[in-house]
Parts: sequence; structure tokens; C-alpha cells
Amino acid sequence: MELSARRGPDVDGERPPLVLLHGFCLNAGLWAGQLDGLGRRWPTVALDLRGFGSSVPVQDDRQPSIEVMADDVAETLRLLGRRPAIVCGLSMGGYVAMALARRAPELLAGLVLADTKQEADDEARRAERERVASTVERERSVRVVLEEVAPSFTGATTRRRRPEAQALVDTLVAATPYEAAAWASRAMAGREDSAATLRALEAPVLVVVGDEDVVSPPAGAFAMASGLRDGSFACLPTAGHLSPAEVAPAFDACVASFLEARFGEVGR
Ligand code: MLT
Repeated sequence: MELSARRGPDVDGERPPLVLLHGFCLNAGLWAGQLDGLGRRWPTVALDLRGFGSSVPVQDDRQPSIEVMADDVAETLRLLGRRPAIVCGLSMGGYVAMALARRAPELLAGLVLADTKQEADDEARRAERERVASTVERERSVRVVLEEVAPSFTGATTRRRRPEAQALVDTLVAATPYEAAAWASRAMAGREDSAATLRALEAPVLVVVGDEDVVSPPAGAFAMASGLRDGSFACLPTAGHLSPAEVAPAFDACVASFLEARFGEVGR
């Protein structure tokens, strides 16, 4: 499935594009700060994953799977025609980016893994995801996500001091079709462990995490970066699980220095 894309201003199309993948119950709108900031200096595209934002709604004919989402991204990258790309996935988007590294490594020039983790779920986590999926289906609403899951998306500092970032996140979650929330919850529950995929990867990888991220905490992100052949690690102060929205300038600066070091000069 070709995914809906939001593009930054078209700058220097010769460089590998930075392709942004959002997390659970969000959409490409998460990356507004990056499209407006980094996107003026590097060719940048944000995708709506299957069922989210303006992409086609989920249908019953595809079983929930992170690999299906990765195949959508691969198809979209091929259609964009500017490959290989630097794929930046946040949380669930990171799971999709890791599946893409497994299934189509030739499409990747590099990876940015933001606020995500390499491990598969344990039994308790899978059961919790099934509870969330069946509740949203029964209620035909994302209420349970808004009330029980999304409160841990942003860090304590954002909840106290950054009302605009918090409002953006709340709006994106509330706009999520409940069918997509259920489908993606089950897809995450069934995902593979990606440690071996990352160990085998030759492309450069930047791992970024907020120091207040309680969903994918910094210790796990550091361990993930340490196992990479060509990994860099950055921990962003006062950011939670959605660091690109919470501390956009710091997130952009960190990604820009990775791009600059590995793929050429980033415009000013
Ligand atoms: C996300 O932000 O995409 C999810 O919280 C990730 C997860 O639940 O594992």
C-alpha cells in the first residue's frame, strides 16, 4: 500500500531523503516541527502508517503485523524514487524501521531510532495490548488509549511546561481511527525481536531517547546502540517518549549532526 506523505520544502533532492515514521496512535503530524525545521535544510518526508492520518484505513484482509507496515514503507520508498533513504522511526515507527532493515536493507542508507526498543513483547505486555485492542473495538473509540496509554507518552517536564506539545499529542491521539489503534496494538504484540537485525546492520544508526522516556527508557536505548556495528547514541534532557515533538530544536540538532557527519553538509 502506498502511504500518504507530508513533505518538507523541497531542498537538494540529490541527498538521501530523511523519511519519518510516527508512533502508535499518532500520524505524520507528529513531525510538524521537523518538517518545518530540519525539512528546510534536508529533504524530509513524513509518512502516515497504515490506517493512520490520511493513509487508507486498515482492512480485515491483512493480519496485524509490523512487517506489513514495513512493506508499505518499502513500497512507498520505491515510489518516491529517491532511495536509499535515512529512515527515522519513533517508537512503533522504530519497530517498523527495524522490520524494514530485515526485509529491504537495500532501501536504507541509515537509521534513526527514536524512543524505541529492540526487544519483542513478553506475555504480559501482549495480553495488555490485546486488552487495549479489544476495548477500542468494543467501544468503537480510542478512549482507553487516551486515558490509559497516552498519559505516559510525554515526559513530566512537557506535561508541566509545554502545553503546545501536549496539546499536539492529545489532538493526534484523539484523531486516531479506533480500527487503526486495534490493528496496530495487535501488530506490536506480534513483532519480532530485532536485536539480531540490528547487530547485522552495516548502515549507520543514531539512537535517540528522551531522558524522561518511561515507555522506552534510556538504559535500553543505550544497550541497543552499544550492540550496533556503527551506532551513535544521544539522550535528550527533559524529553519523554515523544522527543521530536517535546524538544524539537534539540532533536533536530542531534539528527542534523548525524546527517552532517555521515551524509554531507546540512544546510543552514
Ligand atoms: C508507541 O509510542 O509507538 C508505543 O507506545 C510503543 C509501544 O507501546 O511499545
